[in-house]
Amino acid sequence: MSVTRKILTVFGTRPEAIKLFPLVHALEADDRFISRVCVSAQHRGMLDQVLDIAGVVPDHDLDLMTPGQTLDELTARALTGIGKVLDIEQPDWVVVQGDTTTVMAGAIAAYYRKIPVCHVEAGLRSGNIHHPWPEEVNRRVVGTFAALHCAPTETAAAALRRENVAADSIHVTGNTVIDALHWVTRRIAEQPGLATGLSALEERFVGKRIIGMTSHRRENFGAGMQGIADAVKRIAARRDVAVIFPVHLNPNVRAVMNQQLAGLDNVALIEPLDYPHFARLLDISTLMLTDSGGVQEEAPALGKPVLVMRETTERPEGVEAGTAKLVGTDADIIVAETKRLLDDPAAYAAMARAHNPFGDGHAAARICDLLADR
Ligand code: UD1
Ligand code: UDP
Repeated sequence: MSVTRKILTVFGTRPEAIKLFPLVHALEADDRFISRVCVSAQHRGMLDQVLDIAGVVPDHDLDLMTPGQTLDELTARALTGIGKVLDIEQPDWVVVQGDTTTVMAGAIAAYYRKIPVCHVEAGLRSGNIHHPWPEEVNRRVVGTFAALHCAPTETAAAALRRENVAADSIHVTGNTVIDALHWVTRRIAEQPGLATGLSALEERFVGKRIIGMTSHRRENFGAGMQGIADAVKRIAARRDVAVIFPVHLNPNVRAVMNQQLAGLDNVALIEPLDYPHFARLLDISTLMLTDSGGVQEEAPALGKPVLVMRETTERPEGVEAGTAKLVGTDADIIVAETKRLLDDPAAYAAMARAHNPFGDGHAAARICDLLADR
């Protein structure tokens, strides 16, 4: 007789929500499971954008975000808040995804109660505890005690084996971000009105090549963000390009970018886009400039070259395949690499190849089977 398992999925930020909604959908549709969802709401506005479009209604919403939250107060409140939910729900498994404060706190709260943890997107490593900061340590912490490690790629699985994680707890499932991207692409095909909100910008910039951009990493605050802003100013001085930049809600990002880039003719600083509109931005962009993790995974799937404005990446698959390039945060290098892609058709063609090193869109189904088997 099969046993019904109660799974509590815990998340709090935009990228976790995007990468976990396909799993929540799959768990809800599968009678092997009782699915419960707890959100920390470490991000309030950007999380709600994803919950709305994905139709996920949390059973527990801790509403933790405070403006300009510090890492220690956020960690403390997430740990105690999630702990209380675990005591109420007493799930058989806790599922977390990635490397944020919510992930680390949710996993530790489960560990304190001896509840097994399933870590989705396990095994990403940059090898540098300060890049990305604090994410590299968050995911290493979870990697030391998770009972089930769902590695997106063979590279990630190998990183876990090198850390002596038990081989039978590591499974290559693919990254659920590709499931999410397929889902949103289908939704837009069914209902094109979901992604028409950029049409005024598309008209304003008609005839120009669009550069899609995002930036938010904590380790880039200060000199890094300044370098990125300088580069964008210089790139946007060209008449044949326009930069569309949905600005992260983190006030540290907004202050710099608004001060440096507002009012430039060829730069549109806009509010964070919901997922269908961000998919549209990827689609209309010639290339992406980003320091985001998720965008490094989505852009190759759509054949869009990505210039990664970071010193290291825990997602080497795109770089190895030649469709992503690490350019750091030095303005001269960002400008030179962008110019090369814009002006050298052969260099562009070499990077603009669609490939899917991060998954085939069936990661959530594999994770369900793994949870059911245990
Ligand atoms: C967080 C994660 C980072 C992840 C990123 C994805 C940590 C430490 N950082 O970084 O790993 O890559 O999310 O975006 O877990 N804010 C809002 N509304 C929102 C979201 C954020 O106002 O919807 C503002 C708040 O003032 C908040 C601040 O942004 O205090 C910072 O948010 P926080 O989650 O602490 O850090 P992020 O830089 O967003
Ligand atoms: N994204 C979005 N709207 C935006 C910018 C990004 O929906 O305006 C999505 C993007 O498609 C990707 C995810 O947010 O799936 C990346 O989130 P973020 O860059 O905040 O975090 P990271 O991936 O770096 O942890």
